[in-house]
Amino acid sequence: MKHLALIGLMGAGKSTVGRAAAARLQRPFVDTDELVEASTGKRVAEIFAEHGEAKFRELERVAVADACASPEPLVIACGGGAAIDADNRNRLRSSACVVWLRASPDVLAARLGTGTSDRPLLRSRDPREELGRLAALRQGAYESTAHATVDTDGRDIDDVVTDVVEELERCGV
Ligand code: S3P
Repeated sequence: MKHLALIGLMGAGKSTVGRAAAARLQRPFVDTDELVEASTGKRVAEIFAEHGEAKFRELERVAVADACASPEPLVIACGGGAAIDADNRNRLRSSACVVWLRASPDVLAARLGTGTSDRPLLRSRDPREELGRLAALRQGAYESTAHATVDTDGRDIDDVVTDVVEELERCGV
């Protein structure tokens, strides 16, 4: 049995959909940002501020590897940037059914609302503009990591979860 991994930009709903999918599938849920925070005792924003993005990416790589190595099939919500790393891409592709939760930058920015304050990549920029830039930059990485894509614009969580669970079944694991 493989893991179910969710990838996509900040605000795509990876944690919300992931938790709901885990409940439906009766699997444990992990979030790579939370794994990093648990292992360091620091918030993601603090790690960025004190040690820089490169250090965060190192810690994130360990978190992805740990989650992928779990013998128990998990639902894994990946941080929005996890798929830009080649090691993460390979691990996720081989140990999980990877679903890309896709949303337009307008919808992502609206969903995040004031939640951009604990997201270091968006804090000091115009969120809509930065999400548009990241969407263009990361599209190829998301596409090449994902086994399936689920569009989330204008849809409620339960419908998205249903599609995600169907994609897991389609992955044949
Ligand atoms: C990031 C996304 C965040 C977090 C960090 C960097 C990114 O996770 O890992 O702020 O590079 O897109 P979420 O996608 O869960 O917000």
